[in-house]
Amino acid sequence: MKLAQNLACWVLLVVLVNGTQAQSPPVYQVRPGDRDGIPKWYHGRQIAQVMGHQGAGWLERPEREIEEQPAKLIRALRLKGDEVVADIGAGSGYYTFRFATKVPKGKVLAVEIQPEMLELLEKRKTATGIKNVELVLGKENDPAMGDSRVDLVVMVDVYHEFNYPFEMIESMVKSLKPGGRIAFVEFRLEDPAVPIKLVHKMTEKQLRKEMKDHPMLEHDETIETLPWQHIIVFKKK
Ligand SMILES: C[S@@+](CC[C@H](N)C(=O)[O-])C[C@H]1O[C@@H](n2cnc3c(N)ncnc32)[C@H](O)[C@@H]1O
Repeated sequence: MKLAQNLACWVLLVVLVNGTQAQSPPVYQVRPGDRDGIPKWYHGRQIAQVMGHQGAGWLERPEREIEEQPAKLIRALRLKGDEVVADIGAGSGYYTFRFATKVPKGKVLAVEIQPEMLELLEKRKTATGIKNVELVLGKENDPAMGDSRVDLVVMVDVYHEFNYPFEMIESMVKSLKPGGRIAFVEFRLEDPAVPIKLVHKMTEKQLRKEMKDHPMLEHDETIETLPWQHIIVFKKK
């Protein structure tokens, strides 16, 4: 009887200790806000609505060349040519196929949650004949890329609309190789002259606060060469 009591005490102790060591869950608040957002907040930031596939044409607007200067972004990422790059929230593929030509010995995983966007990506893959693009249907809380296979995750104008930002980044960290990078390309909220809806912009300070939830990530560099967007890079330890 005494032995059974001792055993029960040990089991309880182990459960308690493990419980305190576990990653604490993210705290999302549910409350209303800007109508371009959803009623859900993370670290004091209202999450934006997901841009519907009906807006795919807007992603291909010619002005992006001037507003975002994609060639400059690609230079800043310093690709060597053999990497596995994950383009999360690839949309119509505006960046996907540009990245693909820069990694001829590697490939691009184009991850989307909207099947309609994946259809556009498939059509573009056929039309361009670019073969090193792999399409991935993600979930809103999981990009489903598998473990330790990605060198660089890029999110252009995407992170602020994740419904589950904490869970998405945790999954990306698992998919990164050690030393792999995550690059956030977000419109500067610090600059009122950037003509983008408020919930679709983000400050560097806010992003760095949110990344503190992920102890496996450390800030690597912030690149400010684009006209409207930050490039904020974190590295997996
Ligand atoms: C504003 S668009 C940007 C598209 C593309 N990155 C570009 O710059 O042209 C945002 C995209 O992110 C996608 N998205 C939102 N949440 C997502 C998630 N959890 N996983 C994958 N894609 C997501 C949306 O479906 C949408 O196509």
